[in-house]
Amino acid sequence: MEKLLVTSALPYANGPLHVGHIAGAYLPADIFVRYHKLLGNDVIFICGTDEHGAPISIKADAESVSPREIVNRYHESIRDSFLGLEIDFDNFSGTARPIHHEMSQKFFLNLWKRGYLQEKTTQQWFDPVHQRFLADRYVEGICPYCGKPGARGDQCDSCGKLIDAVNLIEPRSKISGEIPVLKETSHWYLNLPKFEPELRKWLDTKTSWKDNVKNFILSWLNEGLIERSITRDIDWGVPVPLEKAAGKVLYVWFDAPIGYISSTMEWAQKMGQPDRWRDYWLSADTKLIHFLGKDNIPFHTIIWPAVLMAQDEPFVLPYDVPANEHLNLEGQKMSTSRNWTVWVNDFLAEFDGEYLRYYLAAIAPESKDSDFNWKEFQARINSELNNILGNLVNRTLIFARKYFQGMITQPLKFRDQSKKVLAEAALLVQDTGAAYAGYQVRKALKSVLDIARLGNKYFDETHPWHTVKETPDVAAETIYICAELLRIISIAAYPIIPCSMRKLRKMLKQSEIFHWNTLQNPLETLQLGEVNSLFHKIDDQAVQRQLDRLHKQNTHIPLNEHKSEITYDEFAKLEFRIVQIKTAEKIPQSSKLLKLTVDVGNETRSVIAGIARSYEPEDLIGRSVMMLINLQPRRVMGVESQAMILAAHDGEEMSVMVPDRPVKPGSEIN
Ligand code: 2FM
Ligand code: ZN
Repeated sequence: MEKLLVTSALPYANGPLHVGHIAGAYLPADIFVRYHKLLGNDVIFICGTDEHGAPISIKADAESVSPREIVNRYHESIRDSFLGLEIDFDNFSGTARPIHHEMSQKFFLNLWKRGYLQEKTTQQWFDPVHQRFLADRYVEGICPYCGKPGARGDQCDSCGKLIDAVNLIEPRSKISGEIPVLKETSHWYLNLPKFEPELRKWLDTKTSWKDNVKNFILSWLNEGLIERSITRDIDWGVPVPLEKAAGKVLYVWFDAPIGYISSTMEWAQKMGQPDRWRDYWLSADTKLIHFLGKDNIPFHTIIWPAVLMAQDEPFVLPYDVPANEHLNLEGQKMSTSRNWTVWVNDFLAEFDGEYLRYYLAAIAPESKDSDFNWKEFQARINSELNNILGNLVNRTLIFARKYFQGMITQPLKFRDQSKKVLAEAALLVQDTGAAYAGYQVRKALKSVLDIARLGNKYFDETHPWHTVKETPDVAAETIYICAELLRIISIAAYPIIPCSMRKLRKMLKQSEIFHWNTLQNPLETLQLGEVNSLFHKIDDQAVQRQLDRLHKQNTHIPLNEHKSEITYDEFAKLEFRIVQIKTAEKIPQSSKLLKLTVDVGNETRSVIAGIARSYEPEDLIGRSVMMLINLQPRRVMGVESQAMILAAHDGEEMSVMVPDRPVKPGSEIN
């Protein structure tokens, strides 16, 4: 029996989960774990939310609430998504819990006592307006490696490189939008170069790791390891357990992976065996497997193993780090700030979670980026899950009910054609198992579906609807073989679509507790249970609604792209007034602009307004609206515009701002 400790990257508790998360670190892990549990291996599956660091406090700042409020909110939301998708962790914790703080501090102190940390005074970005240091994501700029804008102070999403924030080009404070200044501060640095020989030796043994992971690590090592600061000047995180570091916290990427351990400790406590976590983390025969998205590779394969190596107890090192590539959406990179994504909880409000599991398994970004496409989603669910697997279930079980009163009878001997089908299915099951073991979810899904295809072909070729009349035994054999294939599928497809396979097993009167090796126990004669359709088709309207929503939500101004703060004095310079529209006319050659004349109280002004797509000129005449009247005049299409109309836009329609009861033209707004 193998002992496996499987983890999925801890999601930041700063927002809900989207399908990209699921495809990368969670569904592949859950499928792998379910497979190993079926094999009867000793496996625990550990996760929790990553509750520290700049991602959380930036979100809290943006909403003017406490980081803890953010953490509680998203911990719940994320947990609901996992429940809805049957991503079934043995423990789901959170890194703001005391057990995690204690363990992280212990890890830090071990490094400190054993001489792996060095205190250094360096220059760091400081926001002159807010008078605070700008750790990690609090500062953004151009990536010094790939030259792309939008690189964060800790990592560039475009090229995946870890960045020292002081090297960012054209840095800007995320809080004030101002150019930050450099200021001295002291931090504790992990001496990574010291680990290089041991890391290389360990990595040399990892011959079977995925190529994308190995290449990433090698390029890192070949560039040379550098010392990395593991403390930060922010006020949310695990306090650094040294007196002279008062007010500083551990870097989120230092404490986050320790969350795998503290979550296992929590699991052990809940079991009433508080030391049980040690059987996994401190045992040389444990296979520690970290599932994650590719952005997380360097932290798990260099820094984290180094931290584990430096402890005073022999912690197990990662056995494998199956990292997945990215999932795009409708041909574009997913972006939460542009809302170009599919949120899991939105999906679950409309569709069955199994459909997402099925589709994401079919398109898993295992060796290269893949694309979530709503029309393809519909096609896969309708023409594969329904028309292939669902069809085999329906035709077999309905036939059995119609002609054999729901009896599936085991024949005394099989015809050659039947034997051949069973032999082919046995090979496909072997392929399925091998694919699960090798993290090849797509391949596993294809092999399972091939078993259903095999069943449908056999059903067609043996045409029981004919044989049932003259040779009912032959028809009964067809139905038995198809039911046996369904039993096999109920085990083989279980890791991917557990809920439907449990239902299928119930219809086939099969035990709720089963193992991979029960594949070898053929179906005995049985009376079917209640028969229901396992799947339903997704109609065009449902898919169109999703596409419409996606295109609409994508046009919203994302919350985290607010403009920078202004002072009251700056605001006070703006002169807003209620004005009355006297005339309105279209501007030839422009579908967007209208020319208005407005009464601003004691004078009339001409204004060009970009609202022609939402208003007919005649609907505007006589109406009172809000305008900014001290904006410098501009010439637009040959006409001078002497004020600016205020209108809201949601990406589709413009809506002019009006007072909610009559006020005189020229009234001031403040
Ligand atoms: O990238 C992320 O979402 C991180 N929160 C992953 C952390 S994985 C682990 F180290 F905890
Ligand atoms: Zn870059």
